[in-house]
Amino acid sequence: MEIAVAGGTGIAGSEVVRIAQQRGHRVRVLTRGNGVDVRSGAGLDDALAGVDAVVDVLSTSTQSARVSAEFFTGTTSHLLAAGHRVGVRHHLALSIVGVDRAPHGYYAGKLAQEQAVQAGQVPWTIQRATQFHDFAAQMYRNAALGPLHLAPRMRTQPIAIVEVATRLVDLAEAGAVGRARDIAGPREERLPEMMRAWAEHTGRSGWLPAVSLPGAFGRAIRDGRVLPDADADLGTVTFEDWLHAQPRG
Ligand SMILES: NC(=O)c1ccc[n+]([C@@H]2O[C@H](COP(=O)([O-])OP(=O)(O)OC[C@H]3O[C@@H](n4cnc5c(N)ncnc54)[C@H](OP(=O)(O)O)[C@@H]3O)[C@@H](O)[C@H]2O)c1
Repeated sequence: MEIAVAGGTGIAGSEVVRIAQQRGHRVRVLTRGNGVDVRSGAGLDDALAGVDAVVDVLSTSTQSARVSAEFFTGTTSHLLAAGHRVGVRHHLALSIVGVDRAPHGYYAGKLAQEQAVQAGQVPWTIQRATQFHDFAAQMYRNAALGPLHLAPRMRTQPIAIVEVATRLVDLAEAGAVGRARDIAGPREERLPEMMRAWAEHTGRSGWLPAVSLPGAFGRAIRDGRVLPDADADLGTVTFEDWLHAQPRG
């Protein structure tokens, strides 16, 4: 198959590219470094001509609902319009478990993205996954205030990226199914403990106080609204397994 991966240089995207190539698919990576700006739509018709499936694992770093919604609806509408023009038969988007129960900040954009995919003219699949194990490292870096690393109180059931990427390639091969069954990791964790364990394992220093994020988003992540439902498919790699496979600092 010919598979285009929008965001193929990202954390999830690079695993999707690796697994798809390993299975013998021809993969096109859509990123700005390859001359394709999905936000403006420039270069997309050429990049998607002859493609069977588009896997959308784009992301942007914002906590603003408005900025997130603009990014995800803009990029999705460009991918769908170009895909429709050139005959793409499957648009597959990666979303996040619980975005409808916590439609705030970044997650508001993910919900808007899902709505745009469902309203588009290209047959679609939406796969929701929980946070990746690497979320602990991302949060350590992003929530830094000098030596202080704020550790938001959050109930999460993190999953290994390789399990998410494998599922995405399986779905790309199978064709459009609409909403796929959610996927999550095997065990519930607390984000502050994940961040502290990651910092200790990798030799990072600093103070990691647990904080309650303000507002509706903070409440939603503390209350477990982004945890999977009972019918989600569960991966097998725990956060602890993943952490022990990371280089020690
Ligand atoms: N991280 C998590 O815990 C998690 C959990 C569940 C679902 N998800 C979802 O998974 C997806 C991928 O997340 P991630 O953490 O892997 O993202 P990431 O590492 O931040 O990667 C983002 C990708 O988007 C590309 N990109 C950004 N703006 C672009 C533009 N204008 N044109 C073309 N490419 C652009 C970047 O490429 P260049 O900068 O090279 O252009 C990069 O490849 C997101 O939709 C996210 O919501 C994430």
